[in-house]
Amino acid sequence: MDLDVQVLLPFVKAKGRFVSGTSIGRELGLSRVSVHNHLESLRASGFTFAAIRNKGYQLTREPETFHPVLFRALLEETPCPYFKNHITLEEVDSTNTVAEAELSKGRETPFFVVAESQSAGRGRRGRVWHSPRRKNIYLSAALRPSLPPGKLPTITLWLGLRLCRFLRDTFALPVLVKWPNDIMLHGKKIAGMLTEARIDSEFTRDLVFGVGLNVNTLEKDFPDELASIAGSLALSTGQCLNITRLTHQMVLHLAEAFADFMDGGHVEELARLWPEFDFLRGQRVCAEAIEGVAAGITSTGSLRVQRDDGSMATLHSGEVSIRIN
Ligand code: BTN
Repeated sequence: MDLDVQVLLPFVKAKGRFVSGTSIGRELGLSRVSVHNHLESLRASGFTFAAIRNKGYQLTREPETFHPVLFRALLEETPCPYFKNHITLEEVDSTNTVAEAELSKGRETPFFVVAESQSAGRGRRGRVWHSPRRKNIYLSAALRPSLPPGKLPTITLWLGLRLCRFLRDTFALPVLVKWPNDIMLHGKKIAGMLTEARIDSEFTRDLVFGVGLNVNTLEKDFPDELASIAGSLALSTGQCLNITRLTHQMVLHLAEAFADFMDGGHVEELARLWPEFDFLRGQRVCAEAIEGVAAGITSTGSLRVQRDDGSMATLHSGEVSIRIN
């Protein structure tokens, strides 16, 4: 473990209580000066420590932006054994692209990639995912699931639902999934998901699930074309959030959601919970020349749309727009 991580870890474990510099030094075999220097370097990267004679140091503030040392300390404190390894990067073209390249090189799965910014973040249908530096979460998880491809169509809906439930429980906000890959809050898109799988006839070779979550983006940070349709957690909570802690929690929740998906435990849960998290339910929608009222999903994840004549249509993929009359 990195020395910086080892120095920070006692503070993460202490959860705001004082930590003695002498005991950190003793534990790690460092001089007082060396402990002091490590804390100075953490201070320079956005941490605040209070120092009181005879009591030690207290961590009083963490940086809001993603901090790889804090992230590794959090993973030491609350590990996520599901993921065998991970990569954190400052800037990438796309975390999905990095994950795919690592799969091709044979990296052990499951693993995940987190980046602080993306220069070519990818959305569905060839669109660009706006990925400004240090504002949001850009994360891709990679697996080699031993599942037949026929089992995959509900994976994005399931992971999206679990992310919504996690965000709703954490922030008490009405976060919903908009079929097939958006996460919505107060009518605005706060996250997008992009699942890409490589399939060899009857066999799923590998799968990358990418999610971009707008955390601390404010209205002024969005380009004009997104300003009216995109939202963020900060815009809804009125607070600047700790991206590192949120990423850590998200990884833990995704791990659970993946495990449930792999053992088939999600099938009943998805059917049971979908109505609660379904953004489109009861809305008048239009997609692929079908118009009607959204009426939930099928067991294979297709969208059900009830036409005005009462007949039911199912949509397997595509773009859905809401009709406002
Ligand atoms: C969409 O709404 O169209 C999907 C957006 C998915 C964006 C995420 S950000 C992390 C991962 N890397 C990418 O290039 N795309 C996904």
